[in-house]
Amino acid sequence: MTDYIRLDKALSNMGAASRKEVKEAVKKGKILVNGIPAKSSDIKITAADELIINGILLKYKKYEYYMLNKPAGVISATTDSKEQTVTDLISGKRKDLFPVGRLDKDTVGLLIITNDGALAHDLLSPVKHVKKTYFVRVEGRIQTETENIFSAGIRIGSEQFQPAELVILKNDEVSEAEITIYEGKFHQIKRMFEAVGNRVIFLKRLSMGNLRLDDSLPEGDYRELSEEELQQLKYRQ
Ligand code: URA
Repeated sequence: MTDYIRLDKALSNMGAASRKEVKEAVKKGKILVNGIPAKSSDIKITAADELIINGILLKYKKYEYYMLNKPAGVISATTDSKEQTVTDLISGKRKDLFPVGRLDKDTVGLLIITNDGALAHDLLSPVKHVKKTYFVRVEGRIQTETENIFSAGIRIGSEQFQPAELVILKNDEVSEAEITIYEGKFHQIKRMFEAVGNRVIFLKRLSMGNLRLDDSLPEGDYRELSEEELQQLKYRQ
């Protein structure tokens, strides 16, 4: 099925021009659709159409997918009156982007940014148990029985957490581990470690589903997902 969208909506979604600017540009004959000047700003286009605006070639994309290496100090939201948000970090961004789930303000690492609501829903649905792996640094030694406590599914107060896999990497005054969880409760990893006596001092998400954070992506940077990465995210075994 071909998806049609209004020219002005497509361009404003993509962050290329406001609807008013599209109207003006159409009047001046500055928007070409497949080489022909658009007659009005509300004509319907598809992803197959070639758009030239003020001499610049654009391709309408229905969905966009980015991998962001979230830095600390930025909130997982689309807009905020005071704080910088993760979508503020995507330059020239289209207007309908949002983060897939949340990382705490001080958590860094993999965050998917997209406008594909169905994929986001699929990745976040609690019944899908999508795995998420984090690197964690905590205060104090991690007791070795913590691996069993987490893999059995820890209970904190009245809340039951699903089994999680813990691999201790370094055990000292400050310890390091990788932890894999299959749900996404509020402050989940911090609360799990707090419950066994370790305060989390650094948390980084390394992967979500089969998608791993690109090691070469500095904190604060982002890039589009490759077609292969997108397929890995969509079709998980
Ligand atoms: N668990 C946490 O405690 N914080 C995060 O940001 C993600 C998982």
